[in-house]
Amino acid sequence: MNKGRVLVTGAAGYIGSHTVVELTGAGYDVVGVDNFSNSSPQMLDGIRQITGSPLTFIEADCSDRNQLARVFEQYPDIRASIHFAAHKAVGESVQQPLKYFENNLTSLLNLIGLSTADGNSRGIVFSSSCTVYGEPDPENLPIKETAPVKPATSPYGRTKQMCEEILHDCTAACPGLKVIALRYFNPIGAHPSALIGEMPAGVPQNLVPYITQTAAGIRKELKIFGNDYPTPDGTCIRDYIYVVDLAKAHVAAVDRILGTTGSDRYEIFNLGTGTGLSVLELVNHFISATGVNLPYSFAPRRAGDIIKVWADPGKANRVLGWKADTPVDDVLRSAWEWEKKVRGIR
Ligand code: UFG
Repeated sequence: MNKGRVLVTGAAGYIGSHTVVELTGAGYDVVGVDNFSNSSPQMLDGIRQITGSPLTFIEADCSDRNQLARVFEQYPDIRASIHFAAHKAVGESVQQPLKYFENNLTSLLNLIGLSTADGNSRGIVFSSSCTVYGEPDPENLPIKETAPVKPATSPYGRTKQMCEEILHDCTAACPGLKVIALRYFNPIGAHPSALIGEMPAGVPQNLVPYITQTAAGIRKELKIFGNDYPTPDGTCIRDYIYVVDLAKAHVAAVDRILGTTGSDRYEIFNLGTGTGLSVLELVNHFISATGVNLPYSFAPRRAGDIIKVWADPGKANRVLGWKADTPVDDVLRSAWEWEKKVRGIR
């Protein structure tokens, strides 16, 4: 069954690549776009191998309106877009805020403009983040979509908040536009085929790639940032969600946006498991699930880290009919299998 054409920006990226696989499996015709600023064409080969079908792909920079316009000219039948293409390094955004505002905002503005330019009805699924909640008040945990959005702690986080507001206002003004903003918690893991996965450039900033690189012997030891937080074991708590479960939520969001159900034209969903795990718990899961030695030590707190946050995914469970239910041990094994594949470890 062909369900129509969906544009995926950032298709070669970590979440984008997994989503292209799930969309293809669900019967959508995907046109992928990426400028490879933080990804590799190799990921497209992985996607093609998994799906066993050709992937329509155009190399383009979404912040260049002419480049993105050519995609819409070539495929005027695009019914919805999933917008992943954005810079995402929190620390870098503090050093180079303009880079983040220019790229992340301009890309979205171009996408909205082109999605609405010909008067056709189109949908946009937007990659947002739980970072919009900042440090939640304890009484707001697990965190619902109705929790207050707090002032962003980084320019990266601010672009997510601004993009959500822009989409909200444009949806109100443009009857043909329908938007779903998905606020991700902490995506981890890799496709079970180990043909696609997370590929951080340089030293990984995120926990799981650092763990797998340490297990592979590329890093000497994992430093756990802070063990004196007001949590049961003193380390920070997050809601780690399997990237394949996350990808499936995007298919459910596109189904909803293109379907007749759902009266609201702008909707927000939290995507998480609903369970918080501490850094130490995650590390112990990795060791027991893989049987691999993982040297680690405790280090000072990392500036800007939130103490604890996990999702109430109830709205996504009910409305999207979706649930993140892959056991964390399986997820961590998938991350390790991917790391081994990349490094040629048997
Ligand atoms: N951590 C370590 N050692 C490391 C790396 C991380 O102890 O080497 C800890 C962090 O201090 C934190 C936890 O592991 O407690 C998770 O850290 P990540 O960097 O993996 O994830 P964050 O929750 O800090 O950041 C993620 C996304 C951001 C997003 C943010 C929103 O990567 O894009 O969630 O809260 F903005």
